[in-house]
Amino acid sequence: MKEKLQQITQKALAQISEVESLDRLNEIRVAFLGKKGELTEVMKGMRDVPAEERPSVGQWVNEARSSIEAALEKVKENMTAKLREAKLLSEVIDVTLPAKKNNVGHRHPNTIALEEVERIFVGMGYEVVEGPEVEYDYYNFEALNIPANHPAKDEQDTFYIGNDILLRTQTSPVQVRTMEKGKLPIRMIAPGRVYRPAELHAKHSPSFHQIEGLVIDKNITFADLKGTLAQFAVELFGPDTKVKFRPHHFPFTEPSAEVDVTCFKCGGKGCRMCKGSGWIEILGCGMVHPRVLEMSGINPDEYTGFAFGVGLERIALLKYEIDDMRLLYENDTRFLKQF
Ligand code: DAH
Repeated sequence: MKEKLQQITQKALAQISEVESLDRLNEIRVAFLGKKGELTEVMKGMRDVPAEERPSVGQWVNEARSSIEAALEKVKENMTAKLREAKLLSEVIDVTLPAKKNNVGHRHPNTIALEEVERIFVGMGYEVVEGPEVEYDYYNFEALNIPANHPAKDEQDTFYIGNDILLRTQTSPVQVRTMEKGKLPIRMIAPGRVYRPAELHAKHSPSFHQIEGLVIDKNITFADLKGTLAQFAVELFGPDTKVKFRPHHFPFTEPSAEVDVTCFKCGGKGCRMCKGSGWIEILGCGMVHPRVLEMSGINPDEYTGFAFGVGLERIALLKYEIDDMRLLYENDTRFLKQF
């Protein structure tokens, strides 16, 4: 009996010493100490042991039981400690690691320039309005005094969508739409996208942005136009900026002018930026043509006004000294990050 118990104990201890998982350890517990375990079976045989031997046999059984239990407990403790340690190691947080960088978006140079222009004109009491990019021929040309077959129409190559529907070539149609509403006086700017068939190139794009300006009231003169644009140039390019009005022609204004500003890079001495001339062209403008007022239902004998059109990309390229327009459309974040 004693021998048998010793055998069982040896067997159990040997198995326990080779255990590699808690599951296996539990299997061993069941195999020896469980209801049908080997040791339990032996204890069931106690009935057949003569009464006088029972105390010592009982003691052996207890000894076997506790040595197996002790071994089980010890291995279990070791194992749990090891598992805990491994878990802690795998979940370690290295507080010296550099933080993950959140990539934050940047405002596009066009947006920055537009917000700047809007800020200046809103400060002078202008309203910001918008018009459709898909436009009627009537608003884009006719009502701006560019009748069908007029040579001025050839100057602006056009994407036609239908017979009299097109992608607007300029933001000037928003002038007409605003005047037609009949609410006077008018003081507005209209920023937006315009389209002209052209190859994408360092200086041209088939789609770009303009900002239209329009003021209609009683007694508006060319002097108001000059004063307004002079102030605009100073606020946009700096306090020493001068403006120059060169006579020009636009069908929708009379008289018309192109406006140059003194080069903000060299102050007018002449440099690469202004191609040596000291001046940089920034916009077209003029007094709204009486026919344009009439067509939109405004009496030219009572009201006069001025209008202007600025290229937004042109402002952005100049202000941020970007030499290739394509950079504005590629949206490479390495480029955009710089503004
Ligand atoms: N629409 C003209 C263009 O695209 C720009 C322009 C010139 C607008 C003179 C005006 C203006 O309102 O008065 O070239």
